[in-house]
Amino acid sequence: MSMTPKALMAEAVKARKRAYAPYSRFAVGAALLAKDGSVHLGCNVENASYGLTICAERNAVWKAVSEGVTEFTAIAVTARDGRGAPPCGSCRQVLHEFAPNMSVYWRDARGRILKRKLTELLPNAFNLADLRK
Ligand code: THU
Repeated sequence: MSMTPKALMAEAVKARKRAYAPYSRFAVGAALLAKDGSVHLGCNVENASYGLTICAERNAVWKAVSEGVTEFTAIAVTARDGRGAPPCGSCRQVLHEFAPNMSVYWRDARGRILKRKLTELLPNAFNLADLRK
């Protein structure tokens, strides 16, 4: 099932409202689109022990997988207006585990939606096949 990047980004904007980011004050929202058309929202959740913080994108993946949804086609990510929010390296790796061919949308500092394939953002990713060679 498809959804426009703009519509998926609108869901990411909603997800961002739930961010728990009292330390960085950098709230992030993510909307993960599954093959079955379902959308799974995630926000960043920080912790007083800073390193335990989880990014919005991985939160969305954990939520979806926990509900039995593991096939994804796209993710949209947003920070506040004027700030770009391309997914961090850890989130790229986690997304790659489930959907190497997915599309990734994020907003640049001018609010335009940028679009890339995950394989462009994380070429030559480590994966299950490497473990089994
Ligand atoms: N953050 C995300 O949620 N996603 C990213 O891809 C980059 C960073 C969060 C983590 C932390 O709560 C805050 O942004 C500042 O790094």
